[in-house]
Amino acid sequence: MIRSIIVARADNGVIGKDNGLIWHMPHDLKFFKETTTGHYVLMGRKSYESVNKPLPNRLNIIITRQQDYFKENCLVLHSLEEALQLAEAQKQQEVFILGGGEIYRQALDKGYVDRIYLTEIKDTFEGDTYFPELDMSQWQETRREEYQADHQNPHDYAFVTLEKK
Ligand SMILES: NC(=O)c1ccc[n+]([C@@H]2O[C@H](COP(=O)([O-])OP(=O)(O)OC[C@H]3O[C@@H](n4cnc5c(N)ncnc54)[C@H](OP(=O)(O)O)[C@@H]3O)[C@@H](O)[C@H]2O)c1
Repeated sequence: MIRSIIVARADNGVIGKDNGLIWHMPHDLKFFKETTTGHYVLMGRKSYESVNKPLPNRLNIIITRQQDYFKENCLVLHSLEEALQLAEAQKQQEVFILGGGEIYRQALDKGYVDRIYLTEIKDTFEGDTYFPELDMSQWQETRREEYQADHQNPHDYAFVTLEKK
């Protein structure tokens, strides 16, 4: 099973502010939907609550330490390990780690990530949540699609795929 992170990250590492996204980039949202639909998606409780409804056509797994946490139409689990083991046991070919900052950091630190779908947002933003610094000696870039800002997507951006070496 491929364990993938999907993330949109600004040039200064920022991924969020006040428990929400900062930019509005519809092409990235379309890419996110196309990439993750049909799969199991794992997310930290705070990221889930920043949207507060399940992503359709995906098994939404919320990770929390709160034993009595419940959200309709979601699966609540209490560790990353439990979530990844479940996806593996259910024969998923690829599972998606949707964030946020805490969950990305733990997944990377523990070596649980095989692939990163990284959207580079080519601007700097003020924020309070960051993607961890990657050790690029550990990652190989296998895809890069560069785009200019346009009337719908106000920042230059790139869709990049990184595979663990
Ligand atoms: N740009 C992007 O691509 C992107 C993607 C996703 C999110 N974001 C942004 O990221 C921000 C949220 O990130 P965040 O770092 O604040 O929070 P988060 O990672 O979404 O969630 C943190 C919560 O997850 C639970 N958790 C973490 N580690 C756990 C573990 N080992 N076992 C069990 N539960 C665990 C805890 O929930 P409890 O407190 O309930 O125990 C913790 O408070 C928002 O601004 C959001 O918009 C950005």
